[in-house]
Amino acid sequence: MKQKLNIGLFGFGCVGKGLYDVLEHTHGLKANIARICVKDKNKERPVPASYFTFDKYEILNDETINVIVELIDDADAAFEIVSYALRKGKAVVSANKKMIAEHFEELLELQKQFDVPFLYEGAACASIPVIRNLEEYYDNDLLNSIEGIVNGSTNFILTKMYNEGKDYAEVLAEAQQLGFAESNPALDVEGFDARYKLSLLAAHAFGLFIKPDQIFKYGINNISDSDIRYAKEKGFKIKLVAHARKIGKSLGIWVIPRFIPANHALYNIDFEYNGVSVEGVFSDKQFFSGKGAGSFPTASAVLSDISAISYHYQYEYKKTQQEASLNYEPNILMKLYCRFPSSIPVSSLPFESIEQSFNSPELNYVIGNVNLDTLNSSRLLDRDDVFFIQAGDEVDIRNTNEFVEESEVFEIAF
Ligand SMILES: NC(=O)c1ccc[n+]([C@@H]2O[C@H](COP(=O)([O-])OP(=O)(O)OC[C@H]3O[C@@H](n4cnc5c(N)ncnc54)[C@H](OP(=O)(O)O)[C@@H]3O)[C@@H](O)[C@H]2O)c1
Repeated sequence: MKQKLNIGLFGFGCVGKGLYDVLEHTHGLKANIARICVKDKNKERPVPASYFTFDKYEILNDETINVIVELIDDADAAFEIVSYALRKGKAVVSANKKMIAEHFEELLELQKQFDVPFLYEGAACASIPVIRNLEEYYDNDLLNSIEGIVNGSTNFILTKMYNEGKDYAEVLAEAQQLGFAESNPALDVEGFDARYKLSLLAAHAFGLFIKPDQIFKYGINNISDSDIRYAKEKGFKIKLVAHARKIGKSLGIWVIPRFIPANHALYNIDFEYNGVSVEGVFSDKQFFSGKGAGSFPTASAVLSDISAISYHYQYEYKKTQQEASLNYEPNILMKLYCRFPSSIPVSSLPFESIEQSFNSPELNYVIGNVNLDTLNSSRLLDRDDVFFIQAGDEVDIRNTNEFVEESEVFEIAF
């Protein structure tokens, strides 16, 4: 039987206000917002002041409130709110990927211990129902991989650079003006946000809880016009791709810009849109796309979680039992393109083997195989005159005993 939901809402910003509006237009769901907790006492609000409190315990200790919806932009405060609410036996909905990814196992324990639902569809790819699909539709289909464009701001920037030939700084400023980029853009452009989301997706797809800082990530902040020109000439687009892939009994997981050919499902995912491709052992490939951010798209995912709570739905994390022997593997060998200045000798780049090398006064690049774990400790990742892009689909586990011979170095026209 459907439960009547009395909601305590935390946060009344982009998503919180969106949820308020969406609930106003949703009939048939027995849910109402009882109180709203916010931070700033001086802000003008478009709904009556009687709704608001600035004391979280007024909501958390209110026995008539049975659902907490956490939509604030402070991950530490969010964890305090969410863990307190779960301990009080209240169902919780959140969209806070940073908070969830950083406290995944503690939150899982609290759900088990207090037998309460904690749902967070809006935290990964906003309007795209990917987590519940991984939990329910793919519950028995073992997956080979999940990959996607999971950050709308970086995709907006890359699309604008590609379509309009604008440079990175100009497009980043435009994304900020339009409200696509976070006020601290490093979270988006350096790949942190994509890494949090990938950590959530990997837990539901493969049952592995990998701490975000263990996941290799490399963002788009050092991209230049010459990388875009190179991609265009080869018929590729550049997209920031989050990828978790099973390789034997291991799971490789990374966030890195990648050349995407025209026949790839992600090629036409442009601007602030997200796209996720899931590959199952039996079901083969499926592709989901939709708005990955924004007030109403995110609120619609939160609404769906609230509705799921009304019929007592909880995540079961079934893959944690089915994939019990899967190990996380950081030593992933993949083909990368690296653009670098002539002041850096090729021999000091972290390549294990080189397939192509090109030098000209305008552009130097090499393409070859790199171990992501080695690259992760390279100082070149922080240099703004160096840029790495995944240049092929194939990946393997780096066998440290194996020597990969250098292939012929040759020059190609640009
Ligand atoms: N925006 C998106 O497109 C999107 C998409 C997916 C997921 N999310 C996630 O959704 C969450 C909310 O994002 P948003 O874009 O709605 O943020 P936002 O527009 O910046 O709004 C944040 C809200 O949180 C409130 N707040 C901050 N600290 C608080 C505290 N300690 N106690 C109570 N209230 C507090 C703020 O209060 P005041 O109003 O008083 O300042 C504000 O109402 C974040 O976790 C974000 O990552 C956002």
